[in-house]
Amino acid sequence: MAFIIDGKKISQDIKEELKEKVTAYKAGGVQITLAVIQVGKDPASCVYVGNKKKACEFIGIRSLAYELTEEATEEELLRLVKELNRREDVNGILVQLPLPKHINENLVIRTISPDKDVDGFHPQSVGALSIGQKGFVSCTPSGIIQLLKRSGIEIEGKECVIIGRSNIVGKPMALLLLRENGTVTICHSRTRNLKEVAKRGDILIVAIGKPKFINRDYIKEGAVVIDVGIHRDENNKLCGDVDFNDVIDKVSAITPVPGGVGPMTIAMLMYNCIDSIRLRQNPGSTEELEYPI
Ligand code: GUN
Repeated sequence: MAFIIDGKKISQDIKEELKEKVTAYKAGGVQITLAVIQVGKDPASCVYVGNKKKACEFIGIRSLAYELTEEATEEELLRLVKELNRREDVNGILVQLPLPKHINENLVIRTISPDKDVDGFHPQSVGALSIGQKGFVSCTPSGIIQLLKRSGIEIEGKECVIIGRSNIVGKPMALLLLRENGTVTICHSRTRNLKEVAKRGDILIVAIGKPKFINRDYIKEGAVVIDVGIHRDENNKLCGDVDFNDVIDKVSAITPVPGGVGPMTIAMLMYNCIDSIRLRQNPGSTEELEYPI
């Protein structure tokens, strides 16, 4: 029987732990504040931003919401980010993506101060991760490491195969698995013999962005499968990149969609907001990364 990795439960455990940390900070007179900027009214973004605000409320982090219209200019957005960079009472800044086409996403990300970059998207954060120094780590991949560790799944020495090479998931995922002493392969749309490569994975991380694309032909017997995708299927039901029912009797453990990776992203965002205090107290540090939680 496959073990179903319960991301909802694990994320709730992490949020309870973080709530205690925030309560202790508050008792010492420290308030943590996250500024969330949304441009336009993309329906998925509205849901994600709403969930982030709810998590802040639960943990005791103050959240400031900035809602700009779809027509807001790049200049307006950059001005707001710079103002939030300067504000002493703001610890974390999150600009919800995607942004409207007329705004340069990379420029906006680069404008966020690296010591408030709780998404871990700034080139300085990515660079720090790649050379094992202190900085914010992208939330979805760090959430997947927590899912594996808290489910008792060992990474060290395992063949870890990642399908997808995005800046937000695939690439940082590879660096984190490497940090945990996994043997890491990244594959992508141009990979030849994708099935054969995927089948090497003791741990298979799927972030390919295609509903139910991965069936049992891609899976090694007894593999651990982590599904990062989220889509609506032909019956309007949520599904992942993995065809869950087709692979279930071949895997040793798997994340469901919903209730797998999704809730972990927000839990790790909350972790990063709290970590901003530690990073700010020691800016520009070249200290080795402390492992999350
Ligand atoms: N859009 C979808 N996921 C994310 C995320 O993790 N952070 C931000 N800023 N935007 C997103």
